[in-house]
Amino acid sequence: MPDPPGDKVLVTGALGQIGTDLVQALRERHGSDAVIASDIRESAGNSSVEGGPFVILDVLDTDGISSICQSEGVGTIYHLAALLSAVGERDPDLCRRINVGGTISVLEAAKECNLRVYSPSSIAVFGPDSPKHATQDSPLNPTTVYGETKVTGEALAREYLERFNVDTRGIRYPGLISYKAPAGGGTTDYAVEIFHAALNEGHYQCFVRPDTRLPMLYIDDAINATLSLMDSSEDDLGESRVGYNIPCLSFSAGELVDAISDRVQGFTCDFVPDVRQEYADSWPDSIDGSLAEEEWDWTPKYDLASLVDEMLRGISGR
Ligand SMILES: NC(=O)c1ccc[n+]([C@@H]2O[C@H](COP(=O)([O-])OP(=O)(O)OC[C@H]3O[C@@H](n4cnc5c(N)ncnc54)[C@H](O)[C@@H]3O)[C@@H](O)[C@H]2O)c1
Repeated sequence: MPDPPGDKVLVTGALGQIGTDLVQALRERHGSDAVIASDIRESAGNSSVEGGPFVILDVLDTDGISSICQSEGVGTIYHLAALLSAVGERDPDLCRRINVGGTISVLEAAKECNLRVYSPSSIAVFGPDSPKHATQDSPLNPTTVYGETKVTGEALAREYLERFNVDTRGIRYPGLISYKAPAGGGTTDYAVEIFHAALNEGHYQCFVRPDTRLPMLYIDDAINATLSLMDSSEDDLGESRVGYNIPCLSFSAGELVDAISDRVQGFTCDFVPDVRQEYADSWPDSIDGSLAEEEWDWTPKYDLASLVDEMLRGISGR
């Protein structure tokens, strides 16, 4: 294996919901110039990402990824470019192409240049045959194409680790709640949109039923988990390193509405389920993340109350 070209960081899909917060956190740690944000679209208006180097990069372009890593001295890729569940189910072929093809592309570049790779998975890897409290080893039989691409992503990351010794790691993120960038077309988007609607319109029409309960996390916890996993010694990580369940929150859409109503006077919500209800119903309500706790000692800091406080504070600029 050659030495990695350097110790800089490349983030793919950096303009998305997670990238917007992750790039900022990485730049605070490593310095702005050491973190190269990339996406397939222009960065205009994304102030988090605009504070340092940015390149247009299609994640399907393996040579482009390798060449940036070689010329800029990159040693680690955070691979966030993907199509999320709601967008992905509308165009399954494109979802497979970007999610699976993009992951292969990043892993190939990592093999060639000896890069470390963080590639997130999702709780969408589980399907209706999983227990409602999904454990690390619950069966992975998703009914969404998005979920299939995430199962394949974990398998690819494991294959490159075992066959080519590429240092691959990943977390099965639950629904992530943040305010700096819009949610990117996933089934848990309601848990982000509802805050903007509550503060701007006083009303939200929610696309899942009030009893819909899903695993969720506040973005700061998700970023902190990501950095903790990447900081961990390889010796501490076991066979689940490419797709850890992590400890997270679990609340229903109705409980979220109640928590917001307690803080935003006059807020109302009605529930008009659409096709995303089916995707939500196929996923677990909650996640057993005890393995991540044992192996790399991570637990979330935010509960539902503090998450709601932070979201309202962040959106209203208080
Ligand atoms: N946000 C969540 O709640 C959540 C939950 C579970 C897993 N994840 C996973 O985390 C990762 C990031 O999610 P996100 O919420 O930031 O997604 P997002 O949709 O907000 O952002 C994805 C970004 O990828 C970019 N992109 C799309 N096609 C591309 C291509 N061909 N080349 C380069 N960039 C491309 C998009 O322009 C977008 O900026 C994904 O792998 C997603 O599956 C997210």
